[in-house]
Amino acid sequence: MKKRLFACFLVLLLILLTACSSQAVKNVEKDGKKFIGISMPTKSSERWVNDGQNMVKLFKAKGYQTDLQYAEDVIENQAAQIENMITKGVDVLVIAPIDGRAGLTNVIERAHKLGIKVISYDRLIQNSKYIDYYVTFDNFKVGVLQGQYIEEKLQLKKGKGPFNLEIFAGSPDDNNAYMFFDGAMSVLKPYIDSGQLVVKSGQTKFNQGATLRWDGAVAQARMDNLLSAHYSNDHVDAVLSPYDGISIGVISSLKGVGYGTKNKPMPVITGQDAELASIKSIIKGEQTQTVFKDTRKLAEKAVEMTDALLKGEKVEVNDTKSYDNGEKIVPAYLLKPISVDKTNYQSVLVDSGYYTEEQLGQ
Ligand code: GAL
Repeated sequence: MKKRLFACFLVLLLILLTACSSQAVKNVEKDGKKFIGISMPTKSSERWVNDGQNMVKLFKAKGYQTDLQYAEDVIENQAAQIENMITKGVDVLVIAPIDGRAGLTNVIERAHKLGIKVISYDRLIQNSKYIDYYVTFDNFKVGVLQGQYIEEKLQLKKGKGPFNLEIFAGSPDDNNAYMFFDGAMSVLKPYIDSGQLVVKSGQTKFNQGATLRWDGAVAQARMDNLLSAHYSNDHVDAVLSPYDGISIGVISSLKGVGYGTKNKPMPVITGQDAELASIKSIIKGEQTQTVFKDTRKLAEKAVEMTDALLKGEKVEVNDTKSYDNGEKIVPAYLLKPISVDKTNYQSVLVDSGYYTEEQLGQ
């Protein structure tokens, strides 16, 4: 009996201590201010670093506390970091998921039960009823811009061709990847069907060109295989690449077999994110194009949405039909992407202060 009583006492003590310590964390972290948890996928891509820093700066300027975490592309890390933010007492979660389809469903449900609002940032969190808003770019349009760039550079509208094209797609766990692919193929598929564009590998389906976690090394290895299997006596004229990190991998592979010389010019290579390495590559004449998504504006919009949510004001959205996450259509605000190449990087990126001349080594 005594033993049992003692055990009960211990359990009670433990519960009490846990409650006190989580309350302590809550108070220390919140410091009387509203508290925002920002969960980003990885630091390995420069854009997410900028996204995070921009949001922290803007949230602070509006008097919010923030907790910014990067999960280094490990799904379990991201769930644990969000769990921790919930324990610390965040009021809103802004999340760019590593894997939009899985891994976060439970933690988001827990957040919802505690009255924490969730904003999906850039990438859509799928299969959850508890995503309040989505802020992103017009992702289909990103793909259209990439497709149109190839169309224009190869003068396909004028009937030129046939040209050899190879196709890369993004990460299959990221809803955006499908939208980029569909957007690009809406422009390129008719030319593939008519024979003006020839995909010598025959790999024209999303899954055949997919690149898990957007990894440049994976893309480079695939390009090595494509080149040795299909292009020993032929020239690649264009590569549809959905993201700068993939483009850089593809370029390394092409250089490895002698592309980038007078007799073997680089193909037209698209990209996305206007990462510093890619803008430098565009200036050098290696990568041809990228799609600029101004992360400053995305961060601004996310902060604006959060602020409105917390003040109980109307949250501005401009799309209420495109983003079905499997459980609901998530109201979204879509920003405009801009195609950038050698001819306009100066006005779009330097004049707007996104990069300085020095950063670009000019
Ligand atoms: C996508 C994002 C792109 C690119 C890619 C790889 O979800 O929309 O801009 O960053 O991930 O990180």
